[in-house]
Amino acid sequence: MDRTLIILKPDAVQRGLMGAIISRFEAKGLAVMAMKMVKLSRATTEAHYEMHRERPFFNSLVNFMTSGPVVLMVLEGNHAVDVSRKLIGATAGFKAEPGTIRGDFGMSGANNLIHGSDSNESAKIEIDRFFKPEEFCSYEPALRNWIYDMSGGKPQ
Ligand code: RTP
Ligand code: MG
Repeated sequence: MDRTLIILKPDAVQRGLMGAIISRFEAKGLAVMAMKMVKLSRATTEAHYEMHRERPFFNSLVNFMTSGPVVLMVLEGNHAVDVSRKLIGATAGFKAEPGTIRGDFGMSGANNLIHGSDSNESAKIEIDRFFKPEEFCSYEPALRNWIYDMSGGKPQ
């Protein structure tokens, strides 16, 4: 199964949208394998958004991401990265399609509620950045055999 790293950003926490957002992933069939609430340090946030360091919004992005607690989650499922990005929607709330998390809950191009890894490679780096191995609960999600056809051994 594939994994992705999700961050519920400070605006999602402060606006009381944690439950509504997590519900969407659960209802879709993605399993929560690890989860915690933290305040991100500037150093960790700068590493996470390193690819945007030269962009004009970099400083305000780091200020925003460190302005309050966030919720970090590892989701697991077949094609978890792409499925999550589709559920999340386009970067700016004012452009994101209705039905997506950003399209339904936000208006802003900056305070856009949520981050999801953009490839399997970045998912692996981001999961290792934010979670220690012992922070994962080892369990077999009970609904897996109903969410997928597992009769061939692989999720279909
Ligand atoms: P993310 O990395 O947070 O999942 O978002 P994304 O892939 O959809 O968008 P990306 O281009 O990677 O931008 C990273 C985050 O920077 C903030 N941003 N602000 N003010 C602006 O023009 C602007 N553009 C981007 C957003 O918080 C965006 O999610
Ligand atoms: Mg991004």
